[in-house]
Amino acid sequence: MKRIALLTSGGDASGMNAAIRSVVRVGYVRGVEVIGVYSGYKGLLNADFHPLLPRDVSGILERGGTILRTSRVPEFKEKENQLKAIENLKAAEIEGLIVIGGNGSQSGNYALSETGFPTIGIASTIDNDLWGTDYTIGFDTAVNTAINAIDKIRDAAVSHGRTFIVEVMGREAGFIALDAGLGGGADFILVPEIPFNIEKIVENMREAFRKNKMHHLIVCAEGAIHGRDLEKEIKKYMPEADTRVSVLGYIQRGGPPTRFDRILASQLGEHAVDALLGGEKGKLVGIKDNKITLIPLKDAVTKRKTLNEELYRLAEEVSV
Ligand code: ADP
Ligand code: F6P
Repeated sequence: MKRIALLTSGGDASGMNAAIRSVVRVGYVRGVEVIGVYSGYKGLLNADFHPLLPRDVSGILERGGTILRTSRVPEFKEKENQLKAIENLKAAEIEGLIVIGGNGSQSGNYALSETGFPTIGIASTIDNDLWGTDYTIGFDTAVNTAINAIDKIRDAAVSHGRTFIVEVMGREAGFIALDAGLGGGADFILVPEIPFNIEKIVENMREAFRKNKMHHLIVCAEGAIHGRDLEKEIKKYMPEADTRVSVLGYIQRGGPPTRFDRILASQLGEHAVDALLGGEKGKLVGIKDNKITLIPLKDAVTKRKTLNEELYRLAEEVSV
């Protein structure tokens, strides 16, 4: 392979730039030309291709976001657009493609690989919801940002004896909520994967008040219930509760990546290039049991990654 393309797609995640840097520089070392595709699948459809050299990726390791930009392109689900993308790649004499992104982006990547074109995915989403990999690039940074925020919010919760609801990202998955909740010492963690009962939460809060614990921290994933809706529900049963809601939002997606995300991104970038050059196709590069691993894209996007229920149970135990 002499020329490969690289794009970032879907929600941005801290560490995407570190992965871009790794792909470009490892590609250079291996003697393969790396072409950057701008704005994800939109750039594939418009043939927005630009060669990337090692100096083009200087000073990006520590930056959040993606220098290649990203997009959401619903029409990429249509077969004719996928074929158009392959046509554009072939016309530019590109022989392989690396897609950095999350579940949706890797579904698009899988569709491209089904046409026979060699593609490899790099697992990157703050949601950590790709099957077969323990971690995705951006998740660690997002969780650390959320924990940092929770540590600060706790000050007001304790000082005023308030109930704080902290809403974190995770439209379909509770990985951020679980880790941020356990790591931030939340009293209750609400995730889309596990049913919850508001009356039971209020009952536990009343019991805590009786024992003179006046503050509470509740972490909820946006996909389980929105913070404002949860506040309304709690007030139905406990109108006297002094509640406040903090929606953390996009601060979780941006900013400098953690040490973990920088190293993971660098490793996944290297392995993605080597996988393509080694003749692999239709695979996602991820990490399992501390080893970089290749997962069939089909499995990564069709199987549902489950939450670590032991961690959830532990979070309940340590919040008595
Ligand atoms: P993420 O990759 O962060 O999960 P999205 O779910 O928004 O983000 O997906 C990013 C893009 O991937 C979509 O805008 C679309 O272009 C493409 N995509 C998502 N699902 C599919 C699919 N089933 N087939 C083809 N392309 C898809
Ligand atoms: O990247 C995944 C994610 O952060 C989800 O958890 C969240 O719901 C979604 O992206 C929101 O992204 P946007 O507003 O860019 O569509």
